[in-house]
Amino acid sequence: MKSQELREKFLKYFESKGHKVVPSSSLIPSDPSVLFTTAGMQQFKEYFVGKPSPYGKRVASVQKCVRTTDIEEVGDETHLTFFEMLGNFSFGDYFKKEAISFAFEFLTQELNLPLERLYFTVFKGEGNIPPDEESEKIWQALGIPKEKIFKFGMEDNFWGPTGKEGPCGPTTEIHYQVKDQPCSKGNLCIPNCECGRFVEIWNLVFNEYFKDQKGNFTLLSQQGVDTGAGFERMLFILQKEENVFDTDVFKPLLEILQSKLKVSKYSNEVLRSLRIIADHLKSSAFIIADGVLPSNLERGYVLRRLIRRVLLHFKLLDLDFDLIPALVERIGKIYASSYPEVKECQEKIIQVISSEKEKFSQALKRALTLLEKISKKQDFISGKEAFDLYQTYGLPPEILKEIGERFNLKVDLKGFEEAKKEHQLISKKGAEQKFGGIGKDPTYEATKLHTATHLLHQALREVLGTHIRQMGSDITPERLRFDFTHPKKLTSQELKKVEDLVNQKIKEDLKVIKEEMSLKEALESGALAFFKEKYPERVTVYSIGDFSKNPPEIFSKEICGGPHVKRTSELGYFKIVKEESVSAGVRRIRAILISEV
Ligand code: GLY
Repeated sequence: MKSQELREKFLKYFESKGHKVVPSSSLIPSDPSVLFTTAGMQQFKEYFVGKPSPYGKRVASVQKCVRTTDIEEVGDETHLTFFEMLGNFSFGDYFKKEAISFAFEFLTQELNLPLERLYFTVFKGEGNIPPDEESEKIWQALGIPKEKIFKFGMEDNFWGPTGKEGPCGPTTEIHYQVKDQPCSKGNLCIPNCECGRFVEIWNLVFNEYFKDQKGNFTLLSQQGVDTGAGFERMLFILQKEENVFDTDVFKPLLEILQSKLKVSKYSNEVLRSLRIIADHLKSSAFIIADGVLPSNLERGYVLRRLIRRVLLHFKLLDLDFDLIPALVERIGKIYASSYPEVKECQEKIIQVISSEKEKFSQALKRALTLLEKISKKQDFISGKEAFDLYQTYGLPPEILKEIGERFNLKVDLKGFEEAKKEHQLISKKGAEQKFGGIGKDPTYEATKLHTATHLLHQALREVLGTHIRQMGSDITPERLRFDFTHPKKLTSQELKKVEDLVNQKIKEDLKVIKEEMSLKEALESGALAFFKEKYPERVTVYSIGDFSKNPPEIFSKEICGGPHVKRTSELGYFKIVKEESVSAGVRRIRAILISEV
């Protein structure tokens, strides 16, 4: 069965059971407390806690996900940083009986998986949460013998919430026996046994609880079902392969890589590197397609690390970086019908990776030489040394660890974290003043420039695209300075368009209004946020627009500490004086306001 067939089969089955098919959401979730979409339920989080769902009470999706928690495992048979999740969801509609029956029927009737290879787990109860005896009974009623139903606690059979708070609940999991040989570790080898005999293929979550930020559980007013089936895992079972990398969503990538390998010995280590390249390049391509650029913060940092790890393994295998465009194109092709965004953004993806490569490859070369030298004198790298290497060469710690292994150098990762924290503490003190507002006693000139900054931010998004994120802002009474993500230098035409749009909005004499609301409301209403800032629960939002219209025509909306002018006509004339690069993928604009032109 081909990948697209499995996606279609899954959605069709659940459609026939009254589910509305909802497209995958972006990898960038609206929930600000999580970096990436890690599960199908994320876009539906609110419908589990009572908000009416516009799609009805039963939905199904195939969701693209990024998880980096298992990054160390990538290269084995089942772990990935980018994967798809098949899911069916109920918001206060059906519960355990139907959810279990649907999963069972789909696996055994639609996919014809042999029942003798299926094993099951249920929640045994822990803390204040009682055991899930009901699920056990439902499985038994379907003919599953007691011996094939295993019981585990919170760690294995309780799921969620994603982020700081949200719906969660006990789970029942379905595992598939992929290997015949007896367990090398003992008898009871599900779930997650290292022997690899079993692969978890489907997790059924019964959302009955809400966990708050303090860790308290309360019963939800409605019961929900959230399921997640590992797409690539099901695929390798259906395609009768031994691992996710041999399925049709990976094989073409590995074939390209293998054809260019110069090493004669094809060891497990080489295979692991090839798999890491294929997986990480895929997650990088998808993340870039959803608007993220490499940086040293949060999402951008995750992306940077993924790309740099790809580059490292290229280097370790002595592969030519020129191969990257062909691999990216291939990823676009593999996903052309299910996620066309990769193919559509192909050029941008190649460009972003290539500019990261420019930045990193010299440093990587120097670092490799340096580490080789160090290894002749000592067999460890201290936390401080590791942090210095990160600062100087941009070598993320896990990459350092990986190179270290090659030279028999142990890296003190704990010491690295400590050195990093200390450094952050010092730089935070210097930066505190710069976030949000413009300081304590702004002059009228600075206030005007502050409003101009908001107009500029929105104008950049309209002219260049919504991938623009504010990375920094600094205002003096003379000029504004605005840093933002964008992969390349702005052309003079683009700069002119941005400038003209800001001046047009100044001419339109738009009103600036201030409102206070919850952070959630602000983000949901589309207010832009300073990418690097952590916001409090309640925030002020400034909107610039024509409020005489019904509904108001809002040009710009941002979470911001203020202050701002009352109307845009107060600004005069806006002029960009300089555009330059700050770091890879980050541009800087300096602009001034002049009263007469
Ligand atoms: N939301 C269920 C899972 O990710 O396993």
